[in-house]
Amino acid sequence: MQSIRLAWPAVAGALLAAASIGATAQTSGPIKIGLMLPYSGTYAALGTAIENGFKLYVQEQGGKLGGREVQYFKVDDESEPAKATDNVNKLIKRDNVDVLVGTVHSGVALAMAKAAKDNNTLLVIPNAGADAITGPMCGPNIVRSSFSNWQPGYAMGVVAGQKGVKRAMTITWAYAAGAESTKGFTEGLEKGGGKVIKDLTLPFPNVEFQALLTEIAAQKPDAVYAFFAGGGAVKFVKDYAAAGLNKTIPLYGPGFLTDGTLEAQGASAQNMLTTLHYADNLDTAKNNAFRKAYAIAYKSQPDVYAVQGYDAAQILANGLKAVGGDLSKRDQLSAAMRKTAVDSPRGKFTLSAAGNPVQDMYLREVKGNNNEFRSVAVKALADPARGCKL
Ligand code: BEZ
Repeated sequence: MQSIRLAWPAVAGALLAAASIGATAQTSGPIKIGLMLPYSGTYAALGTAIENGFKLYVQEQGGKLGGREVQYFKVDDESEPAKATDNVNKLIKRDNVDVLVGTVHSGVALAMAKAAKDNNTLLVIPNAGADAITGPMCGPNIVRSSFSNWQPGYAMGVVAGQKGVKRAMTITWAYAAGAESTKGFTEGLEKGGGKVIKDLTLPFPNVEFQALLTEIAAQKPDAVYAFFAGGGAVKFVKDYAAAGLNKTIPLYGPGFLTDGTLEAQGASAQNMLTTLHYADNLDTAKNNAFRKAYAIAYKSQPDVYAVQGYDAAQILANGLKAVGGDLSKRDQLSAAMRKTAVDSPRGKFTLSAAGNPVQDMYLREVKGNNNEFRSVAVKALADPARGCKL
């Protein structure tokens, strides 16, 4: 291998030049955002909605965040945990991004959070609810604009308890999000005197539900709680109705079961009750303006994932504003992101010390192609952040 020898003054000059380019990149020029999202597979539509929401907010700020132009780098993570570390390293090490934004799938997000901590990179999570990320893995450089898996599950458990459910079954994919969501539901239900008699699972992203639906029919619980999202949620809700189960056993879920899916689910989802931190018809100036702008920009209706993408950009913008766009002020930047009060289409919310939204959980009912607000199921619900030490 050939090596190039530089005389000392030349070496010193080159080092100084490199350092000054680095310092300038911290304070001016575009901020490099790494979007790691699913653009293929069962969660593909969720990834696109998050990106759309994020970019909508940036466009509303004249294409800038905290006064800085924005440059995007994108990776399709395929909701594939086995590829997650390689994928996130493409953004951190190859593209040298300033901020990571991602992702949807909890298993992939756990790998992203580890890489963000190892490399001290800022991470804003616009969906994945893995409890551990704002629990034992919490860190000053990680915030979430979405929810913890526990939150909507717990709220639905509370509602089911109030409706007198005594014997429930759960059904989900066997991975962190499903396990944590059903655990939250069980906790909420037990507070109301009910219990879960059986948890059913199948591997992610399998959609062969028939054998499990037969088991539900045999057990005849008072209600079923299901965590599925994206393409899997469409198929599950349709299969549940096709089996006739919706006539005798109410199907409950976190709002992901019916969010961004209603056109495809059609009649099978009508009148379903779910809990989530967003409802389509929230009649606030912020939500009405957001929905109008989104529909104009993308010729489609927004859903909760679009809201979370929009709010991820808001949280980052608020942090950047506090440091005048200077990325070298990292500690102040991440502290300001955490302290931010977010004026979201879902309603105003704050972030907990662990970096997770403290937010109202709404009970919604499906009417036509909308998840309509019915009531506040749990007010200002904070994730317990078990194991988070900062
Ligand atoms: C998750 O993996 O955390 C997740 C995926 C889709 C919707 C909600 C949560």
